[in-house]
Amino acid sequence: MCGIVGYVGPRDSQDILVAGLARLEYRGYDSAGIAVIDEGGSLAVRKRSGKLARLREALDTDPIGRGTTGIGHTRWATHGGPTDQNAHPHLADGDRLAVIHNGIIENFSELRKELQAEGVEFLSDTDTEVAAQLIGRAYRETGDLVAAFRAVVNRLDGAFTLLATHEDHPGLVVGARRNSPLVIGLGEGETFLGSDVAAFVEHTRHALAVGQDEIVAIRPGQVEVTDFSGNAVEPQPFEVSWDAAAADKGGWSSFMAKEVSEEPEAVANTVRGRIHDGEIRVPELDGLDDFFRGIDRIVVLACGTAYYSGLVGKYALEKWARIPVDVELAHEFRYREPIVSASTLVVSISQSGETMDTLMAVKEAARLGAKTLSICNTQGSTIPRESDAVVYTHAGPEVAVASTKAFVAQITALYLLALHVGRVRGALPADVSAEASEQLGALPEKIQWILDNEQERTEQLAHWMADTRSVLFLGRHVGYPIALEGALKLKEISYIHAEGFAAGELKHGPIALIEPGQPVFVVVPSPRGSITMHQKVVSNIEEIRARGARIIAIAEQGDSAVLPSADEVLRIPLASPLFEPILAVVPLHIFAMGLATAKGLDVDQPRNLAKSVTVE
Ligand code: G6P
Repeated sequence: MCGIVGYVGPRDSQDILVAGLARLEYRGYDSAGIAVIDEGGSLAVRKRSGKLARLREALDTDPIGRGTTGIGHTRWATHGGPTDQNAHPHLADGDRLAVIHNGIIENFSELRKELQAEGVEFLSDTDTEVAAQLIGRAYRETGDLVAAFRAVVNRLDGAFTLLATHEDHPGLVVGARRNSPLVIGLGEGETFLGSDVAAFVEHTRHALAVGQDEIVAIRPGQVEVTDFSGNAVEPQPFEVSWDAAAADKGGWSSFMAKEVSEEPEAVANTVRGRIHDGEIRVPELDGLDDFFRGIDRIVVLACGTAYYSGLVGKYALEKWARIPVDVELAHEFRYREPIVSASTLVVSISQSGETMDTLMAVKEAARLGAKTLSICNTQGSTIPRESDAVVYTHAGPEVAVASTKAFVAQITALYLLALHVGRVRGALPADVSAEASEQLGALPEKIQWILDNEQERTEQLAHWMADTRSVLFLGRHVGYPIALEGALKLKEISYIHAEGFAAGELKHGPIALIEPGQPVFVVVPSPRGSITMHQKVVSNIEEIRARGARIIAIAEQGDSAVLPSADEVLRIPLASPLFEPILAVVPLHIFAMGLATAKGLDVDQPRNLAKSVTVE
């Protein structure tokens, strides 16, 4: 949460900062601001509550003169409401120093008191202004901005990426990070900083990762990195594998619409290069064979949509690799004295690679001696760097806050992992492996079929249901996490009450919610899989129908058993049971998007949420 951008170079920094913020706005959109050292050598600041559009208006009416050094921020409010005063940058040292921040400074209140005792007056309620005042005070002692950072960061607890620029030093931006992301972009005679590479990918794909507890000073075409004690550090270079066009809307009405349309490609790209002659081999896992043979348990850690992909992955890991799997919300794992050992594989799943709850849980697992593997969509992000191994999902940049294409790519990556580990452990018969490889390879075409044949009808249905106040989702086996994901997506972007349940649990409580007209989505398992499971779900449909529910079934083509009892049937192509979730979720993504659109809501930037949650 909170997007951060910094620039030093020959071009006008205002345009570069605002364009960078536009690409980072998914991280938070409560307020936005920039600080630029203008050609006259003065620090100019503009900041506004609300979305970036409001800052753009402010810059149109009151432009900043040309400047080549600056920092920019888009905020997801933590300390202090989303007001103009609380918007970043915050100023200190006689308004000559500007500071922006992502994260939470946990000991800000005592530091604030210390400064107040010295007569410092605060203009905002933020923890950031405390950091700005501390840096200002330290700077006044030495006139050295990097030294001032070093003195201050060692006093801050919690999570922070801080960037600062000072009128005395045009051509310099200083940054520091602890438990919060920061990457460097290397251009020709110009240098960028960003919360992630999206901030500068339209200018350069050459990047450097900034490590934990490091301070970075950028000048045009120059970078210096040190640790918090001042020792020089060699940052790790990497190339961004996608270009700016991939992070543009490209003619779609929303990023979410574009990203749902990219679900086939996200799966195809994640599978690419990982199937060889009917066998799954994930090259990134080479060298771990002995470890995989010795593990006795897998713990999967994630939050939000990624957690639901983990719940789906459990079925595949247990079936194909024959290892017991626990899937846990990362924030619950960390604080309950978890039991893991050197023979536990801890798999974290994160689109952004920055979710603080997941990162902290991974660190805790590593501290307890487990081996950690990250399934991640973002190169250069923190969780893969803190893990022993990484399997990247190649879904491309995901900008809409509600995750869609990353979800199908995460399940795909978990399946690849299950098949890889199953093969290494000798648990996977060759024919099962060959069939699974074929099914994986066929998924993109099947998802495309749903987009081509069922999208319009699903959107129409969403349109008719625009006034609905509550929707329930039922599923069984791998369809259960899909029901949870369907409900989450609807809550996130349409603000409608939605709950997902295991179909078998219906009679233990949720059936009491059914009243005439209550819409219920039911993810129906294939009759070609476990016939008992199919029959049981059809019986569930009958039970709720008898109580007046309005049933929308997601069922495979040719499943005629659902026809008499369902009000609507959304079709998905035939697939082996374990592969159905990757298909069944597609209409649910389309439905949530259609309903939010019908209500006139912003599907990309739902209220109160942020895509990358970098605070606990
Ligand atoms: C936030 C987002 C969700 C996302 C979750 C986990 O809550 O709004 O869409 O699923 O974080 O994010 P991650 O980047 O770790 O997958």
